[in-house]
Amino acid sequence: MKRNIAILSGDGIGPEVMAEALKVLARIEAKYQLEFDCREALVGGAAWQKHQEHLPAETLSVCRNSDAILFGSVGGPVSEQGSKKWAGVEVNSLLGLRKAFGLYANLRPARLYPALASASPLRADTAEKGFDILVVRELTGGIYFGKPKGRAGKDDEEYAYDTMVYARHEIRRIAHIAFKAAQLRKKKVTSIDKANVLTTMVFWREVVEEVAREYPGVTYEPMYVDNAAQQLILRPSQFDVMLCGNMFGDILSDEAAAITGSLGMLPSASLTDGTFGMYEPGGGSAPDIAGKGLANPIAQIMSAAMMLKYSFGMTEAYDDIARAVEKVLNDGYRTADIKQPGCSIVGTKEMGTRIAETI
Ligand code: IPM
Ligand code: MG
Repeated sequence: MKRNIAILSGDGIGPEVMAEALKVLARIEAKYQLEFDCREALVGGAAWQKHQEHLPAETLSVCRNSDAILFGSVGGPVSEQGSKKWAGVEVNSLLGLRKAFGLYANLRPARLYPALASASPLRADTAEKGFDILVVRELTGGIYFGKPKGRAGKDDEEYAYDTMVYARHEIRRIAHIAFKAAQLRKKKVTSIDKANVLTTMVFWREVVEEVAREYPGVTYEPMYVDNAAQQLILRPSQFDVMLCGNMFGDILSDEAAAITGSLGMLPSASLTDGTFGMYEPGGGSAPDIAGKGLANPIAQIMSAAMMLKYSFGMTEAYDDIARAVEKVLNDGYRTADIKQPGCSIVGTKEMGTRIAETI
């Protein structure tokens, strides 16, 4: 069967790690006798060069004609911040794509690979227990998109404001995603809120509780976001699915990623109803190491794996890739971000090739 995939490599390490994900996809294509039609399109600073826009119409149209988007990363070096090319690049590219395709459900799995436990900043006895968390983040609502937002007044009276707003249907649909995911995992949903202070979050808790009643087989627990931030560090093994609104999910998913040992390990999926989705690594464009062949391609490779699973229903191919990643790590190969004593340090290409060849 033929699948059209929009390839948006973007900036920084994006193109390098994308090349490794494409290597892995080629391997899956051969193994399962599929046809992936990968169409490259420009996004971020790379698009600005040619179009003076971060998300050109041409790119949107390639995405619209695809079954899924595989996204790299966008953003430029600190030294060039302030230039027009980079101003608002992440918001324009990422929020633009999320909104354009209604990608309201963001899945960010954070799992501590046993082989990497000692690379985690967690205390050894905490890391030893391991963890396997799925952050389910609402992605097209909340304070990121709420209106009104703006600035007014001047001098000392100048002020700025954003609006945190959630409609019942927005909370319900993301809560269903979280509970359905939990049914296939360890059957626990921790819903993150700030219901002791914010009206939006009182409502969030009410609606999630209603949805929870439809899933008697899943344990439901509400938790304040400040407590969740510390519980993640103190006892991450208590979590299965963490259900979050847009802003809290942004923050806690970075925290969950960091305690796995490296941002370079974390894939993500942004989904809508149906099978279309956008898949991207969690780590960003890392301009400091771009072009040096040092970046860890695992997050990009696992993002491609998530695409196979969620957009194409290819659970077996997902498992093939996940197993290959684990095997290569167990065999002692590491990119510099996850280096450990006694391991062999490899570059981006070698890591990608090893994973592809293990499949
Ligand atoms: C993320 C990023 C984005 C977000 C930024 C770059 C707009 O931090 O995907 O988590 O805040 O959603
Ligand atoms: Mg973030």
